[in-house]
Amino acid sequence: MTKAETLARRRQLLGRNLSIAYQNPIKIVRGSMQYLYDDEGREYLDAYNNVAHVGHCHPRVVQAGQQQMAVLNTNTRYLSDLINDYAARLTATLPESLKVCFFVNSGSEANELALRLARAHTSAQDLIVLDYAYHGNTNTLIDISPYKHNGPGGHGAPSWVHSVPLPDLYRGHYKADDPEAPEKYVQHVNEVVESLGVRRLCGFIAESMPSVGGQIFLPENYLRKVYSRVRSAGGICIADEVQTGYGRIGTHFWGFETYGVVPDIVVLGKPIGNGHPIGAVITTAEIADSFNNGMEFFSTFGGNNVSCAIGIAVLQTVLEEGLQSHAESVGSQLLQKLRELVTEFDIIGDVRGSGLFLGVELVRDRNTKEPATEEASSVVNKMREQGILLGTDGPFHNVLKIRPPMPFTSSDGDRLVEMLAKTLTELG
Ligand SMILES: Cc1ncc(COP(=O)(O)O)c(C=O)c1O
Repeated sequence: MTKAETLARRRQLLGRNLSIAYQNPIKIVRGSMQYLYDDEGREYLDAYNNVAHVGHCHPRVVQAGQQQMAVLNTNTRYLSDLINDYAARLTATLPESLKVCFFVNSGSEANELALRLARAHTSAQDLIVLDYAYHGNTNTLIDISPYKHNGPGGHGAPSWVHSVPLPDLYRGHYKADDPEAPEKYVQHVNEVVESLGVRRLCGFIAESMPSVGGQIFLPENYLRKVYSRVRSAGGICIADEVQTGYGRIGTHFWGFETYGVVPDIVVLGKPIGNGHPIGAVITTAEIADSFNNGMEFFSTFGGNNVSCAIGIAVLQTVLEEGLQSHAESVGSQLLQKLRELVTEFDIIGDVRGSGLFLGVELVRDRNTKEPATEEASSVVNKMREQGILLGTDGPFHNVLKIRPPMPFTSSDGDRLVEMLAKTLTELG
């Protein structure tokens, strides 16, 4: 089928609110590491798709899935060394206290389960979330995702959800030039805790580096202080590592480690299956015990043999190919080169990130920080025409999001920067 026919068929058969990337959609038919190929054989450098963490169709992951699929694929009610092995390998990457795993099929399911665990442990419901956060697509997760419930089609937050300002030192309520800014952001959490009255706090959930919020790195000590306040109010702390885990940040394997904190529950998704649907929740023995309240937990596909074989292969690949340190060196060179563009292009308001998790915020005016939303969209579409895939994010969709598969190289980075400079020049 031609691309136009595929598009027409999709419009007929699929829900219209499934969005399609780029004004000129791409029909991708094949992927290999950091490259994607369309129906006309054109190659694209993928600088956006973090799910293909170790690379699109990485041979080791493909082989693990194929082999296990030919042997057995069943559920967690039967004993299997694969699931134990996967859990042991995952917990070995985490702080000592996080030792009990649950496996599901997506980041959304994992966050849902994390909330159930938190509620079982605290017998409380109220949750503190960051503004503009996104945690998944279920009813409850829309409730705790301001990005969705405050956006088009949303109906706001229920009374048990308390959102606090996103601690964004570039665009947020308090900025980098205010030495009190980090403390002021923490103060909002304190105020929520103090305002609860008879309601009780279940916990706090945040991405370690809010991604939909615009590739934001939290101020130093923010999480340490927030975790401490939440815990003193009886709540538990959930780290959504769906986008930030598995070495992407470069300096650390997990995003939360960069802040020197240890969450009570960690939520994993996207990269851990390299495209195969796997989600996981890892928690303390105490919280897992509270959840073990007589009601069985079962997920038909969660933790199946094929998923575990794939999950192990992905994790081994990350560790054995040294992808975390690769991300650190390639990412820091890329960050440096992107920062050099700031002197040349007034439209670049901020460049931030770590490892292969980077953001370039475009503004119409550096003083007012008026978001350059249409310009960002135009850049992404022009880059796509030049064979480089990027996306936008942030509350105003004016942040260019760079989050490639981890095999992305320094020369890929150079190509990206060169093309970005050319595109920004053409933008005028
Ligand atoms: C931070 C974060 N948490 C959770 C999810 C939900 O994951 P999934 O789409 O696999 O359900 C996403 C998906 O974009 C996400 O970015």
